[in-house]
Amino acid sequence: SLKPILLLLWETWGVVSACPFHCVCRNLSESLSTLCADKGLLFVPPHVDRRTVELRLADNFITEVGGSDFVNMTGLVDLTLSRNTIHLIRPMAFADLESLRSLHLDGNRLTTLGPRDLAGLVNLQHLIVNNNQLVKVSAQAFDDFLVTLEDLDMSYNNLRRVPWESIQNMASLHTLNLDHNLIDHIAEGVFGELYKLARLDMTSNRLRTLPPDPLFTGAISPTPYNAVISLNFGGNPLHCNCELLWLRRLIRGDDMETCATPAHLAGRYFWSIPEEEFTCEPPLITRHTHKLWVLEGQRATLKCRAIGDPEPVVHWVSPDDRIVANSSRTSSFSNGTLDILVTVARDDGAYTCIAINAAGEATATVDLKIIPLPHRGGGGGNTGSNGGNTKNNGNFEN
Ligand SMILES: *[C@@H]1O[C@H](CO)[C@@H](O)[C@H](O)[C@H]1NC(C)=O
Ligand SMILES: *[C@@H]1O[C@H](CO)[C@@H](O)[C@H](O)[C@H]1NC(C)=O
Ligand SMILES: *[C@@H]1O[C@H](CO)[C@@H](O)[C@H](O)[C@H]1NC(C)=O
Ligand SMILES: *[C@@H]1O[C@H](CO)[C@@H](O)[C@H](O)[C@H]1NC(C)=O
Repeated sequence: SLKPILLLLWETWGVVSACPFHCVCRNLSESLSTLCADKGLLFVPPHVDRRTVELRLADNFITEVGGSDFVNMTGLVDLTLSRNTIHLIRPMAFADLESLRSLHLDGNRLTTLGPRDLAGLVNLQHLIVNNNQLVKVSAQAFDDFLVTLEDLDMSYNNLRRVPWESIQNMASLHTLNLDHNLIDHIAEGVFGELYKLARLDMTSNRLRTLPPDPLFTGAISPTPYNAVISLNFGGNPLHCNCELLWLRRLIRGDDMETCATPAHLAGRYFWSIPEEEFTCEPPLITRHTHKLWVLEGQRATLKCRAIGDPEPVVHWVSPDDRIVANSSRTSSFSNGTLDILVTVARDDGAYTCIAINAAGEATATVDLKIIPLPHRGGGGGNTGSNGGNTKNNGNFEN
């Protein structure tokens, strides 16, 4: 009388021929699960049935994946590799996993995601790589699933930068977790077309400011696409000046964000500070080169130092009224230094440095005098060696 029950069990738990040693394999409702969690595995077992739909390998000691580990697993939907010691994904490791929807790689030792490490995952919806040691994620790493991805978790890594240029194209993205990294920059407008984004966690990064973005406005007044947006950016060293006034004007108050700077606002709750205190200082040029004499062919370094809040960017305008751009001969640094590596006679004239920030601008004039070399028309070789000898001695500043 036990026989029918046993038979029934045999069928529903369908014992499968190719099941790796120690693992449990089930053929439930015609889809095969291979369950190998916490089995002390050092590598992905080679004898996994290629028809498996679910493969669980969490809590083992696997150090790398790739090669033939997942070859031909075209029906695999769910792959869990959480909490191993994976430090290497070989390029194209997942190339056959065209049906994969969910990839868990959290709790490993990955430091980079290369351009082809995740190639081939054309249906991926959930990518979970939190709690690794990521310092670099290639801008191409997500290319094969930009439109399908719904859930991206890269929290608790060491990321200073993330590939915003690919994130901004993830049209189906619903949840983005980037908390507990070292991110100091959000590109402007990245959330503009992520209409489905409902949750963004940027807690505990190094953001000093946030660019104005419709997403944040949506957090207050829901758009037709998302009823509620959950937005967290606490634990960032926010610089509470006029550039964050737009955010302060959104009526919230539920979160615990604090300001880190300027000094008089340090430690105060973002939402408790009156709008009038979110101020900026227009640029003030504190020091600059007034007049510089340079022997033709020598290097000229013009300096212009400006303060202000936010820190001003300095541009230079040449005597012929053009913004000086970088070239093989000139470098214009945002800190206010203009380097002309090899001066020529036509560099002579009045330069204007313009310091600009969100609150205004300031200008100063610098005269550059080029002292023409004698016998210029004579032999090119002669003048060249003269120039070389007096390197760095031709600058007279007053
Ligand atoms: C799972 O069971 C179904 C029938 O219930 C069968 O057709 C299929 O081949 C089995 N798959 C595996 C991998 O054994
Ligand atoms: C994958 O499939 C190909 C073609 O069917 C076959 O030649 C190859 O041996 C398979 N590899 C593995 C590891 O199953
Ligand atoms: C010129 O190049 C330097 C780096 O070499 C960069 O910091 C600076 O912003 C560039 N200036 C312009 C005007 O593009
Ligand atoms: C400005 O930046 C350039 C390049 O980083 C550097 O060489 C120069 O010394 C800096 N100038 C000042 C005044 O800090």
